Amino acid sequence: MSREAFVNGEYTAYKKSYIHIEDRGYQFADGVYEVFAILDSKIVDYEGHIERLYRSLNELRITSPIQKKSYKFHIKEIIRRNIIKDGLVYLQVTRGVANRDFKFPKNTKSSIVIIGRGIPSNYYNDNFNKGINIKTTKDLRWKRVDIKSLNLLPPVLAKQYAIDNDCEEAWLLDEDGYITEGSSSNAWIVKNKKVITRPVSNSILNGITRSSLIKSLMKVGYQFSERRFNLKDIKNADEAFITSATQFVMPVITVNNTKIGNGDVGKFARLFKEIYFNSISLS
Ligand code: PDD
Repeated sequence: MSREAFVNGEYTAYKKSYIHIEDRGYQFADGVYEVFAILDSKIVDYEGHIERLYRSLNELRITSPIQKKSYKFHIKEIIRRNIIKDGLVYLQVTRGVANRDFKFPKNTKSSIVIIGRGIPSNYYNDNFNKGINIKTTKDLRWKRVDIKSLNLLPPVLAKQYAIDNDCEEAWLLDEDGYITEGSSSNAWIVKNKKVITRPVSNSILNGITRSSLIKSLMKVGYQFSERRFNLKDIKNADEAFITSATQFVMPVITVNNTKIGNGDVGKFARLFKEIYFNSISLS
């Protein structure tokens, strides 16, 4: 099987898929993206991701290059053409190609790329059973991280800092010493059976997995609090975990080398994983 991508209206061989050198995504990170989890060849939480994509496009005043109803067709087509069972689809829209100039170009069509890849079906569960380690670092991102933009250099550096310290994810600290979120995930702790995550604002991405989990927790009547937490709260926490489209619910076993709880994957992470997957929307 040879991989295929959707690039500006055409399906092309992955190895021969190109974007112009003056694409504004390349020069200015002037674009937005979404990552969709694929389970059993179906899209997880499609509606949530597509609504957030449109919100990001509107915030940056980028016109969608295709009709809203066409996104699902093309994502499904990428799943089909690449024979993806479990995996992910990456979708990116930029302001398009124009002579390099900071101001918005006139009459430029926005660019779109959709690519997908399979992930071994046991990959998530294997990682879940190991849990992940977190390193904290300063949140150096811009002040509109609620927009899922291509402006990702600070999270790239934060993630690499975590990796260089034998951790899998970085948690970002705001100027008051509170965690905003992970470099590419939302951050959560559990204390006295109460699950805590930072409220939505311009300083975090409103994660679709986060919203889904909150909805599922509320459905089963689980105690839940949206508030900020800091390093002291983490030290005292019974459990911690992250959520994202690629990690679903993923337990955290250490933060800055300090064990969370007894340093094992906790019972709440197992419970929340189950609650999440029980009410997931697939299309
Ligand atoms: N990242 N916060 C940040 C900064 C993120 O980059 C992501 C997702 C999340 C979780 O959002 P969601 O649950 O909608 O995936 C939170 C994706 C997976 C990425 O950039 O690869």
